[in-house]
Amino acid sequence: MERILITSAIPYINGIKHLGNLVGSQLPSDVYARYMRARGHEVMHICATDAHGPPAEIAAQKAGKPVAAYCAEMWAVQKDLSDRFGLGFDHFGRSSSQRNHSLTQHFAGQLAAAGLIRAVSERQVYSPTDGRFLPDRYIEGTCPNCGYESARGDQCENCTKQLEPTELIDPRSAISGATDLEVRETTHLYLRQSAMAERLEHWIQTRTDWPILTTSIALKWLRDGDGLQDRGITRDLDWGIPVKKGTEPWPGMEGKVFYVWFDAPIEYIAATAEWADATGQDDAAWLRWWRTDRGAEDVRYVQFMGKDNVPFHTLSFPVTILGSGEPWKLVDYIKAFNYLTYQGGQFSTSQGRGVFMDQALEVQPADVWRWWLMANVPESSDSAFTWEAFQQGVNKDLSAVLGNFVSRVTKFCRARFGEVVPEGGAYGPAEAEASAAIDTRLRAYEAAMEAMEFRKAAGELRAIWVLGNEYLQTAAPWAVFKADPDRSAAILRFALNLIALYAAISAPFLPFTAQKLQTALNLETQRWPGTAADALAELAGGHSFQVPDNLFAKITDDERDAWQARFAGKRAEAGAA
Ligand code: MF3
Ligand code: ZN
Repeated sequence: MERILITSAIPYINGIKHLGNLVGSQLPSDVYARYMRARGHEVMHICATDAHGPPAEIAAQKAGKPVAAYCAEMWAVQKDLSDRFGLGFDHFGRSSSQRNHSLTQHFAGQLAAAGLIRAVSERQVYSPTDGRFLPDRYIEGTCPNCGYESARGDQCENCTKQLEPTELIDPRSAISGATDLEVRETTHLYLRQSAMAERLEHWIQTRTDWPILTTSIALKWLRDGDGLQDRGITRDLDWGIPVKKGTEPWPGMEGKVFYVWFDAPIEYIAATAEWADATGQDDAAWLRWWRTDRGAEDVRYVQFMGKDNVPFHTLSFPVTILGSGEPWKLVDYIKAFNYLTYQGGQFSTSQGRGVFMDQALEVQPADVWRWWLMANVPESSDSAFTWEAFQQGVNKDLSAVLGNFVSRVTKFCRARFGEVVPEGGAYGPAEAEASAAIDTRLRAYEAAMEAMEFRKAAGELRAIWVLGNEYLQTAAPWAVFKADPDRSAAILRFALNLIALYAAISAPFLPFTAQKLQTALNLETQRWPGTAADALAELAGGHSFQVPDNLFAKITDDERDAWQARFAGKRAEAGAA
């Protein structure tokens, strides 16, 4: 039994997330956490909302609400959607928590004491029209690296380059669109990332099990051009964590806040502390996940995120951790995702393009989305959402294979033997053969999950469902019932055991369905199968069950067309900026 700490990149507070966001971090992270828990490991699974920064301020402004109130509301909305999608976080925190304030200020103090922070008097973009400095996302313009025209002041989402706002070509205010921008003097703190470059490179080089996607992005920023640049970690904003050196004031930095990307990853730690607070435990309870001098030395820490987040997790956040000089847990493995595209374009929060989490649940239940998204997770390359592909995948895998199997087996058994596992007959060569085939697939499924190859894992799981259907089709309990009711009984006993096995192994992907199956089969606990042969002999004759309601409805062409039309345009009332 291992201890596994799992964090999912924390979603921005501004508005409801779309399915691209969901599949790019929180959903795979949940599938992995559920799997690891099912295998008996001790898991801490953490997420939160990313509350600070211009996006939050801009969204609150648009909603006509004070930013703190807006964030509290949106946190509740996001938390509710997260629950309804079955995302089983131990804690869903918020980066504006008191815990994060203290920890962020603590880290800044440690970094300053280590000589890793310098104050820089710099020239910043000021907008007379807006009456304020315009940091980060308040400025848009053309990326100096790739020429993308809607690059933001903090990062170009096209080429992932981290940017300083003043680097943008043809900058404009994201608030007013004003182009009469001036440059004024202001003092900011810089994290001396350059001083840590060698340590970072050494650390990354020793992470030999990391995927190429992760390592190559990190090494690119370490090696390209002038190497890793120092990074401004403060901003001229009202909303955020006040700049302090631990609990002490920071002379010259009054009225400024930390940069959102400085405090956001620290929230992984803070949210674990919030979890301890919320469950009435002391500091030792969360420190044993995060401090190697307090019990975390044997923790395996896995982070999930979209590829645009990789530089912050391979470079900036490790600088904070390593630079603190304290024994905080560094990430062991980063699982990064490509993008899901929508009908040939991009999902976009700002443009209200695509399907958003709340809307998705109006159309189909959470498990249906979870399955399709994970079976098509943008793992080794971008993947495409289309309504046709969605309809096909759902109908083929869920309705025709898993749903159909459960329905045929339970209904036929009820008709001939009643709602009870039949006693007669013994397993024969057909069952031995099916068990062996399932065993092979099961081990491949486990291997794919351990390796976090989710698309492959979904494929193996589907293959195990298919094996059940093939077995049933060949064994044909309905055909042998008249001549040999005992044989028919043995087949149904095996098939009902298969449903129990499906409930256990499908739970990471389909938690709600697994629960339904478990209830239908009157199973108290969901045990992960050892050998298939053992697992499929577990439910003995005489065990009662109830035929469950139809698990998955087939998506009709009319439904598909209606949804395609409904989600073709811009989302009208996106709570989004
Ligand atoms: N809010 C960021 C995004 O959605 C992710 C922040 S991850 C963390 O891209 F490391 F900062 F926590
Ligand atoms: Zn770019």
